[in-house]
Amino acid sequence: MENKTKILIIGASGYLGARIYFDLQSKFSVVGTYCNKQLSKNLVHLNITNEDDVKKVVNDYSSKIIIHVANNASSKWCDVNPEAAMLLNQTATKYIVDVANQIGALLIYISSMAAINPQNLYGRTKLQSEEIVKTVKNGYIIIRPSLILGYSPNTTNDRPFNRLLKNLDEDVLAIYDTSWLFQPTYIKHISDVIQVCINRKICNQSIVVACSAMKSRYDTAKDILTPLGVKVMPTDAKESTEVFKDDLSELTELDLPKYTYTEMVSLIIDEIKKEKNLLFNSTLIKIQKYDNHKT
Ligand SMILES: NC(=O)c1ccc[n+]([C@@H]2O[C@H](COP(=O)([O-])OP(=O)(O)OC[C@H]3O[C@@H](n4cnc5c(N)ncnc54)[C@H](OP(=O)(O)O)[C@@H]3O)[C@@H](O)[C@H]2O)c1
Repeated sequence: MENKTKILIIGASGYLGARIYFDLQSKFSVVGTYCNKQLSKNLVHLNITNEDDVKKVVNDYSSKIIIHVANNASSKWCDVNPEAAMLLNQTATKYIVDVANQIGALLIYISSMAAINPQNLYGRTKLQSEEIVKTVKNGYIIIRPSLILGYSPNTTNDRPFNRLLKNLDEDVLAIYDTSWLFQPTYIKHISDVIQVCINRKICNQSIVVACSAMKSRYDTAKDILTPLGVKVMPTDAKESTEVFKDDLSELTELDLPKYTYTEMVSLIIDEIKKEKNLLFNSTLIKIQKYDNHKT
């Protein structure tokens, strides 16, 4: 039997974690965890704010590679719930690092570009977690995405891309901000970078994973939704968050995969069309079966 590398993905039920879980499945032996929402029956329960739970689950699966995707990504939620945010996004990182050190695992931590020059509690917890992750003895990789776009098996969590899908499904008016600019991250780009880092044994690196183009939420919504028949309207929300442009030097220096903004948009439109067709086809099969049953 093929001896695949074992990977534990903590937070495999979330928007990003579910896509990483899906993308890595064919290459590695992957076990994923959920906390409140068991997206697939194969996922194992883990609450990372409980240190004993972390010790038990991580020891049970004793993978040599752990991917930690289980933080709350909402800066608004962090501001409203500062104690819970510190516990989940920062203190729990120490629990995971401690057990990774006990079993000699490499830790891949999904951080954020918000950790570069943090401007709110979310960014500060991500930066503090990065410092904690750097104490992993067997090596670490820190991935710093910007706002992530692209299809995930989790289409329901209230994440920016899933809001675009809502515009498609529910025929709600699509109005998006023009004031805040960012370098979008394609969701599969993260899985690609993780795979290459594992295969080439790259470690102890912090890597910004994003496109080079600066775009607004309005630009990304317009470019993805217009070809799919949804009209997108601009609004100026006058967001004051400082605009930061990264030169993506780690992707270049480590010779890691890159996507242009145009490539990302085109791949995302294809992903949406494919998923919609699949949904349409499976509904059609169900209707045909039902009809056959009746006659
Ligand atoms: N989405 C973005 O645009 C973006 C951008 C930059 C960085 N990131 C980073 O990417 C990571 C994932 O973000 P996301 O957008 O995928 O968020 P998400 O959809 O809210 O997923 C969060 C994940 O964390 C799990 N989780 C929450 N509380 C937990 C707990 N107490 N114990 C164990 N697991 C828990 C959730 O499990 P259940 O759902 O089962 O409760 C879920 O699997 C975060 O670290 C975030 O900072 C995201």
